[in-house]
Amino acid sequence: MNIIGKKVIRIDAKEKAYGISKYASDYYFPNMLYTEVVYADVPHGILEHIDISEAEKLPGVVKIATYKDVPGTNKFGHVIDDMFFLVPEGEKVRFEGDVLAIIAAETPEIAKKAKELVKFKIKELPGVFTIDDAIKNEVLVHENNVAFTRKIRRGNVENAFKNADLIIKETFETGYQEHAYLETQGVVANYSDKLELYVSAQCPFYVQKDVSKILGIDLKDINVIQTETGGGFGGKEDVPSYIASKAALLSFLTKRPVKLIYTREMDIKETSKRHPSKSFYEVSFNKEGKILGVKAKIYLDMGAYSTLSPIVMYRTMVHACGAYSVDNVKVDVYGVYTNKVPCGAFRGFGSPQVLMAMESMMDIAAKKLNIDPFDIRMKNALEKNKQTATGHLLTESVGAKETLKKVYEASNYEQLKESVKKFNESNLLKKQGLGWAHIFYGVSLGAGGQFLDGATAMVNVQSDGTVAIMIGNTEMGQGAKTTISIIVSEILGQDLSKIRVLQPQTLFIQDSGPTVASRTTFFSGNAVKIATEKIKNNMLNFLGEYFNVKKDEIKFKDGFVYVNDKKFSFNEIAMLCNNNNVKLSETGWYKTPKLDFNHEDGVGEAYVTYSYATQLSLVEVDILTGKIELKKVWVCHDIGKVINLDGAIGQVHGGVIQGMGYVLFEDLKYKDGKITTKNFNNYLIPTIKDIPIEFYVDFVEDSFSEGPFGAKGLGEPSLMSAPPSILNAISAAIGKQLNKIPVSIEEIIKKE
Ligand code: MTE
Ligand code: MOS
Repeated sequence: MNIIGKKVIRIDAKEKAYGISKYASDYYFPNMLYTEVVYADVPHGILEHIDISEAEKLPGVVKIATYKDVPGTNKFGHVIDDMFFLVPEGEKVRFEGDVLAIIAAETPEIAKKAKELVKFKIKELPGVFTIDDAIKNEVLVHENNVAFTRKIRRGNVENAFKNADLIIKETFETGYQEHAYLETQGVVANYSDKLELYVSAQCPFYVQKDVSKILGIDLKDINVIQTETGGGFGGKEDVPSYIASKAALLSFLTKRPVKLIYTREMDIKETSKRHPSKSFYEVSFNKEGKILGVKAKIYLDMGAYSTLSPIVMYRTMVHACGAYSVDNVKVDVYGVYTNKVPCGAFRGFGSPQVLMAMESMMDIAAKKLNIDPFDIRMKNALEKNKQTATGHLLTESVGAKETLKKVYEASNYEQLKESVKKFNESNLLKKQGLGWAHIFYGVSLGAGGQFLDGATAMVNVQSDGTVAIMIGNTEMGQGAKTTISIIVSEILGQDLSKIRVLQPQTLFIQDSGPTVASRTTFFSGNAVKIATEKIKNNMLNFLGEYFNVKKDEIKFKDGFVYVNDKKFSFNEIAMLCNNNNVKLSETGWYKTPKLDFNHEDGVGEAYVTYSYATQLSLVEVDILTGKIELKKVWVCHDIGKVINLDGAIGQVHGGVIQGMGYVLFEDLKYKDGKITTKNFNNYLIPTIKDIPIEFYVDFVEDSFSEGPFGAKGLGEPSLMSAPPSILNAISAAIGKQLNKIPVSIEEIIKKE
């Protein structure tokens, strides 16, 4: 490989560091209006009346839109349309962030004043705020609080428990997690002959479709331009549709550009989070530590609307038994409505909750059976020709055990255990602990979303040899532009600095599905590879004739083209091809092979392939104050092939720290149905001071035949290994298995 897997400079680093990149809030148009959003600010009730007459009279207010102004459908939904865009009179308000009206005014100040003048009356209803209350179904958020289920039924679970040497039964709880992207949600809408939407988003095609429904206009009349996006982490999957629709409607009604940039408080109040969960696990083992069966009931708190929850639940279900081969499985996942913020996509997409539970079960079992936590994982880990819990027979690219072994060796585990033991013997108030986690991740959308699993890329070699690319997926910080450029550079030999990746625009490029599920490298990577190879082939055909040589005597490498012993710059050759009418622009399309999956019993090929990872964490706990320090971390991922080395390491660094925040700090608090932690003064996330002093990252490259150069996916698994590993380390340090995150200091200092 010339450049794949090597250290390179991130192609968008400079423009971001120098402040050149344009984010949604950087777009200005003449005559632009500013937006305010009128929220219900009541968790449950009936909107009896809304009166905008006073607010409309305020000079500088151009338009106040309510449900009466929506030209198309007034509802949103991914699986079912259960959420109003603007709540109509006589209808229910189901969480504090429900929107009643939107205001367009000449200045942000006027919009804010107008908001105070909008009057409305809500008849309050008792609310449902916990999973336990939701299950009771006494107060109903919608017709039935337990609205969605997913299940796996495989093997003979009763037998697997009857014949077991050890049965463990535990309950686990996990809290919310806020995406905390640097850039809040934002959009600028500009309607003239068509609607242009400049949106901070992961999924511009979702925005295009949703806005088309709200306004009742054709897709051809809506160009969604993805702006530079300052982080998404799943929080800009469906949510930008709800934001963009507001500005789009106001622009449509006023025929003027409209800007809507969320404050952090609006963002935290209204937009999605990671689902809180409560799960009941029973796992049976034989005395050697082999898992015989898993029974699990998992409840996810969807909040007021279902949005992406039923899709999230699919991933929860498939990952519920962890990264292990389990033959007897009974898993039930339930999505319940509450009167709180709708939850949706967040890095890991419903899997971190259950991986935390299953990995805790593994540690509890290891302790009871007197087996090392490393050994019990090796014993159950997946490998080639084994089946996952859904009965997916794995035929290739299963580097699971390799990741375990690499971490074992890199950490010098046996010695490390000794040193931790010694530390604990000689320290009374500080205790260290080691925690393992072994995880897997189904790459892309899987059998639940195959209809979206295709992607395109357009590659355009300019006459001077530089290259412009547009892919249908997005850069949101994860490094997709660099990864895509590396693939093109590998094939054409052109230097990275001569390659530009454009942000997608929905009128120019085909819907390539959402930029989620860690699918960009695999999908857009394949699409761009196909397109670039076509161009190279066009060039080779011409050059072969032109120089009268065989095609395989021509090599593209390091910015040059070698024809036998002659050497030309790639730029010269591109110019030559261009001047001889060679086709230098191509598109590529990639779609996955069909998966065989039965949704009734949850059995079959759940995903096209899986990434695997192992993490070992060393924590130190002050048992007097409850302070926890993550001191050292060893992580290894099998991602098939490392394309963008620094990018991959960066993903693991960021993912582990975000996962650490989930376990240690991040605690979204509610009081009377309203979030009280609406900014980072009281919703704490990790900072640079919290990162471990030693951070080992390594990769296994067990090639996947369908992947571009063998690659799978890393964006989300990079987070997923951290929560269970850190939680297990804390449990080991204090000698008590914790089963609730975020970990509370009280729980640690409590004497039992
Ligand atoms: N990394 C950064 N810096 N910013 C992000 O918003 N999102 C994560 C992950 N890593 C994210 C990130 C999520 S939720 C996903 S699905 C993947 O990146 C998407 O990118 P990929 O498809 O290129 O892996
Ligand atoms: Mo990521 S949660 O799939 O956007």
